[in-house]
Amino acid sequence: MDIYEVFRSRYSYRAYTDRPIPADALKRMGEAVSLAPTACNLQPFEILVVLNDTLRTKIASVYSRGWLQSAPAIAVAIGDRGVAWKRAEGDSIIDVDIGIVMQHFVLAAQAEGLGTCWICAFERAAMDAVMGLTGTERSVVAITPVGYPTEEMRADKRPGRKPLEEIYRIID
Ligand SMILES: Cc1cc2nc3c(=O)[nH]c(=O)nc-3n(C[C@H](O)[C@H](O)[C@H](O)COP(=O)(O)O)c2cc1C
Repeated sequence: MDIYEVFRSRYSYRAYTDRPIPADALKRMGEAVSLAPTACNLQPFEILVVLNDTLRTKIASVYSRGWLQSAPAIAVAIGDRGVAWKRAEGDSIIDVDIGIVMQHFVLAAQAEGLGTCWICAFERAAMDAVMGLTGTERSVVAITPVGYPTEEMRADKRPGRKPLEEIYRIID
């Protein structure tokens, strides 16, 4: 799939079938993750693709919306603030790094015909506890379901965007 076709077809899918995800697709998505740039190439992240039912249920229980449970996999993006590059002012770049890495994963999933939906609206301490990260510099930054969206969800339901001229300018 052409990359612009991936951009156009991606949107946030919030209902999934239980069709299993092919292992080779997950492997290719891993390559996309590993090719993501990070500040100083420190790669202060880990993406865990959770297929395990017990752990998936625990992760989903930290998010208030029940639809997350319908996905056959949940990807968890963990960032390490201690390792990530810091700006001159001292603040960690981890959220930028994770944003790029996760979007590589999301777009690769889309190219594989799979759906995703960025999720950050969870209580971080609770999610870290579920993932066994409490008391470390590692923390869950974002999660996403992964799977084949339901037919109904395949219809284009993307919310509108601001007019291009408001958000993108070419300055000669
Ligand atoms: C950083 C980030 C966090 C998000 N968190 C959530 C979330 O917690 N729950 C949710 O349903 N959608 C979440 N979204 C999805 C956005 O609502 C969605 O991307 C936006 O409305 C644009 O729609 P589209 O993805 O279908 O193009 C998040 C998206 C981003 C980029």
